[in-house]
Amino acid sequence: MIFEGKKFILGVTGSIACYKSCQLLRKLQEDGAQVKVVMTDNATKFINPLTFQTLSGNPVYLKMFNKLDKNTQIQASNHEELVHIKLTQWADAMFVAPATANIISKTACGIADDLLSTLLISFQGPIIFAPAMDEGMYKNVIFRENLGKLKDKGYYIVPVDKGVLASGKIGEGRFASIESIIKNIKHALSAKPARPDVTSGQAGGEDLRSVKILITAGGTREFLDPIRFIGNASSGKMGYALAQAAKIRGADVKLISAPTLLSQPGGIEIINVVTARQMRDKVIENLASTDVLIMASAIGDFKPKTFTKQKRKRAEGSWDIKLVPNSDILLEVGKIKKNKITVGFSIETENQIDVAKEKLKTKNLDLIVANDIIMKNSGFCSDTNKAVFIDKNGKIEKMPLLSKIELADKILDKIQNIGRNKWKRRK
Ligand SMILES: Cc1cc2nc3c(=O)[nH]c(=O)nc-3n(C[C@H](O)[C@H](O)[C@H](O)COP(=O)(O)O)c2cc1C
Repeated sequence: MIFEGKKFILGVTGSIACYKSCQLLRKLQEDGAQVKVVMTDNATKFINPLTFQTLSGNPVYLKMFNKLDKNTQIQASNHEELVHIKLTQWADAMFVAPATANIISKTACGIADDLLSTLLISFQGPIIFAPAMDEGMYKNVIFRENLGKLKDKGYYIVPVDKGVLASGKIGEGRFASIESIIKNIKHALSAKPARPDVTSGQAGGEDLRSVKILITAGGTREFLDPIRFIGNASSGKMGYALAQAAKIRGADVKLISAPTLLSQPGGIEIINVVTARQMRDKVIENLASTDVLIMASAIGDFKPKTFTKQKRKRAEGSWDIKLVPNSDILLEVGKIKKNKITVGFSIETENQIDVAKEKLKTKNLDLIVANDIIMKNSGFCSDTNKAVFIDKNGKIEKMPLLSKIELADKILDKIQNIGRNKWKRRK
């Protein structure tokens, strides 16, 4: 259980997405965490505190102050007087999900006028906001400034999704999926402290800030007729994990995605493609404007020689399919990349390391990640991966079995190391 023994405060604010934080609470508990919920007054208009109390097995915290005793006019007990101190000492991390425009702006301005906003100012550990709001609010210039301020100061912000909003309109501002919030929490807890010193005002955590990273993900498809295609088992999880981790670390991320069943992560420009040829064209088109290219997609090495316009009928009997090779995108990129950092992935069923070393050389890569697809829980579709890194200097590093988001961070650490001097010179 990934959060075994961890203690979290879940702040809930007045958004229509409040009900979704019940699912988040459940998921955190399933993953081993103890959770205490703090609700704003406005959140209680959307969902009854009793729901969170029952689900969390803990009292729900609502107010800074107790009601005054009728006779003495002093607080009835000192328990709640110190609740903000006690809670901050108890927790390992704080999440605000959903986070309204109001709580984000209040935190950015240092306002502490209720229990949750006071906790957010006093808490010294990682704080993660998962915003949810209408597109109009999300794009408001003052709100954007406040959100940017929090990012600059090292607070973690889960990117919003794009999709159908509570108003029925389609736009940006949708509460991220529970899966994405959990990924961000995992990242925030495993990353170097984002707010190394909350009182110093120093930004931290965004070590890839403004670095342009182009990532490919998913498995390409080559159609035989309008119905059938030749594909591969790639789920896109590794590429999407890289995109999310890079985004969290401040990079400008563009994701070229072959078909996957994954939901589109917010805050990331996504270019959808289907075939290897389309993938190639988009990579070449976007190469000039990127600093780093990470090819985490499984691109079909072969395509059918011919495409049949009408659906092939079973009655026509056996079907001999002739395949021809697709062009090798990384080989082409290797010849024109100049000082860009390029990272490839390799999947082989035999001589994994030797083949990966050869690819590193012929494709002029800075780093190659050799995936283990033989081992259980590694490679295609799995949430975890076992990989070996080989860099340009021939250094080989064997990684343990890691979640794809953890592995993504290790890959980004390597890239950060390779690029550090180049990017410093540019600034
Ligand atoms: C039906 C309804 C839905 C709302 N949904 C949101 C929302 O998703 N995000 C948001 O920032 N504000 C939303 N608001 C506005 C907030 O509730 C309002 O700004 C409030 O002051 C937030 O208080 P709090 O941050 O203390 O919880 C909504 C209001 C209503 C009436």
